[in-house]
Amino acid sequence: MDRAFLRCSDPACGAEAGPLSHGYSCPVCGGLLEVAYRSWPERPGEWPSIWRERRGGLRPEDRSGVWRFRELLPFLDEGRSPVTLGEGGNPLVEAPQAAAHAGLQRLWLKHQGNNPTGSFKDLGMTTCVSQALAQGAGVVACASTGNTSSSMAAYAARAGLRAVLVVPAGGVSGAKLAQAIDFGAHRVEVEGGFDEALSLLRAVAQELGWYVVNSINPYRLEGQKTAAVELLEQLQWRPPDYLVVPGGNLGNVSALAKGLGELEGLGLLPRVPRLVVVQAQGANPFFRLWSEGGAQLTPLREPRTRATAIRIGNPANWPKAQRALEWSRGLCASVSDDEIAAAKRAIAEDGIGAEPASATTVAGLRQLLLAGAVEADAEVVALLTGHQLKDVDYVLEQNRGQGTEMRISPQQLGQAPGLLAHWLDELPPPAGSSPGSA
Ligand code: F0G
Repeated sequence: MDRAFLRCSDPACGAEAGPLSHGYSCPVCGGLLEVAYRSWPERPGEWPSIWRERRGGLRPEDRSGVWRFRELLPFLDEGRSPVTLGEGGNPLVEAPQAAAHAGLQRLWLKHQGNNPTGSFKDLGMTTCVSQALAQGAGVVACASTGNTSSSMAAYAARAGLRAVLVVPAGGVSGAKLAQAIDFGAHRVEVEGGFDEALSLLRAVAQELGWYVVNSINPYRLEGQKTAAVELLEQLQWRPPDYLVVPGGNLGNVSALAKGLGELEGLGLLPRVPRLVVVQAQGANPFFRLWSEGGAQLTPLREPRTRATAIRIGNPANWPKAQRALEWSRGLCASVSDDEIAAAKRAIAEDGIGAEPASATTVAGLRQLLLAGAVEADAEVVALLTGHQLKDVDYVLEQNRGQGTEMRISPQQLGQAPGLLAHWLDELPPPAGSSPGSA
């Protein structure tokens, strides 16, 4: 009997759907599915030392920061190699300026922008595309605000699969599109936003036999859950008080909760960190649900935020995310685009670059500290989900006219030293960390 199978993620239903399913919802109640395991490999108490030994190993599976934890991913048949690009292994960096901005004594940022295609999606794509191959898929497809599509395109190229992305016309950053194009993926543009793109894809995928790699696919979350494991390893198995993530389609927070829950069940997690989801104010249906204590999410029809990665009005994973916050005594915040921009600047003062959606974490922390919901001396880790270069237009727009540029013509060369010295004197001192302060 297969060790792995798909099960309805709603504990009130719990129906089983077999190990291979092209559907993404429970055949009984329509809820989202999750990968479940009938048993785990033996002796979990020894896994942390096995995982540590694999670091720096020569096998591709050992060099991957996802498959290094493969005891937690026993769904591929023995002898089948995963499709990996060396994802994971993402640094945990202390960020004093971002901490000061949020009002925290200390803050650690785990940078998932340091992945093969520059976002956390790679952690889930390696598992999902490996499963797509195992299921004999020919075409993988996703709806995306950009990062999922860049990641899918890379892993599909690696696996020799055709890739189709369905994206909101004009709603995806040029860098993300360029990545997908470079990897040879095919693009469908939809009038509307991410929610319309995902609805279209869900409507056509089954008939066309396309394998959907969005976070409604439970094999995506399997890979993403390992971020929690890697983080704990980096903290020498002492969990933080809070783990903060941006919320869009709410796959990542669901994945982290699954990873933490499994570690707890295996006796590897002494205490559950409180999960914190931060949404952009113009795209915050989950925040509304959580703060109103409702039972059903009301989709936002026209989500708006300059953080295009999380411009989502009808997040598919909201029931999983709701359970994740209930289970971990979590928190939720909603931040304006101005608050995101200010947080992004504070992160940059630490020499750390991230895309706008990632900066919601620090903006949300600032708000929660001001509200007294998070303590200044708490141990906090925030996930930076995407790379700084994912949205360069945003950076250039935000900094236009800030007086940080100087233009010198060839005729001014003689006066250049004086002009430049004067120019720098007039500028405010750098606000960043001083050397060695971290
Ligand atoms: N941060 C970044 C950089 C993202 O690209 C996304 C989602 C999120 C956070 C939110 O994560 O959906 O798991 O809650 N991007 C998706 C995409 C929707 O298509 O690339 P989530």
